[in-house]
Amino acid sequence: MKNIVLIGFMGVGKGSVAREVVKHSEYIAIDTDDLIESMENKKIKEIFEENGENYFRKLEKRVAKWLEKSVHDTLISTGGGFYKQENLQKVGIIVFLDSPFDAIIKRIKKHPNAARKLKKRPLLANLKEAKKLYEQRRPQYQQVANIVINVTEKSAQECAKELLKKVKKYA
Ligand code: S3P
Repeated sequence: MKNIVLIGFMGVGKGSVAREVVKHSEYIAIDTDDLIESMENKKIKEIFEENGENYFRKLEKRVAKWLEKSVHDTLISTGGGFYKQENLQKVGIIVFLDSPFDAIIKRIKKHPNAARKLKKRPLLANLKEAKKLYEQRRPQYQQVANIVINVTEKSAQECAKELLKKVKKYA
C-alpha cells in the first residue's frame, strides 16, 4: 500500500475522514500536527505564540522529510499548510478534501466543541483573513492533488469510501 496524504483547509474534516478510512481499510493513520506537538511537547497554538509560524513551518519540513524516508502503508493527515512541502509527491498519493469556505466554517460551528476547534487554530482567529488564505490556497491544493474529493454535504464515512475507491487506481 502506498501512503495516502490528506490535504485541505483547516476544519474541512481531514481527521474525521482519516478515522473512517482506518475503520474501513488496513491503513493506520497519523497526523502531522500530532507529530509536531509530540516533537515539541507543546500545542500547535503554543508553538505559534512562543516560537512563531516560521519555526512551525520548519518543523513541518522536518516531518515531511521523515515521512518520505521512513513511513509506509500509512494514511497521513496533514495541517492545512503542509501541502507546500516540496517532496509531497514522494510521500504518497495526495488527496485533497475540497469544500467551499462557508461550508467549512458552518461545519466547525455546528460541532459540539466548536469553540475549542476555533481556538486551537491560530490562522482561523480572524475569519476575514482566513477566507483570504482559503482563496489563495484552494487552487494550489487542486494543483498538487492526485485526487480531489468534494466533501460538502457528505458524511465522513461516504468520503472515506469514495477515497478508498479512487485510491485503488493508484495502488
Ligand atoms: C494550519 C493548519 C492547522 C495547523 C496550523 C497551521 C494552516 O492544521 O497545522 O494551525 O496553515 O492551515 P489543521 O488543518 O488540522 O487545522
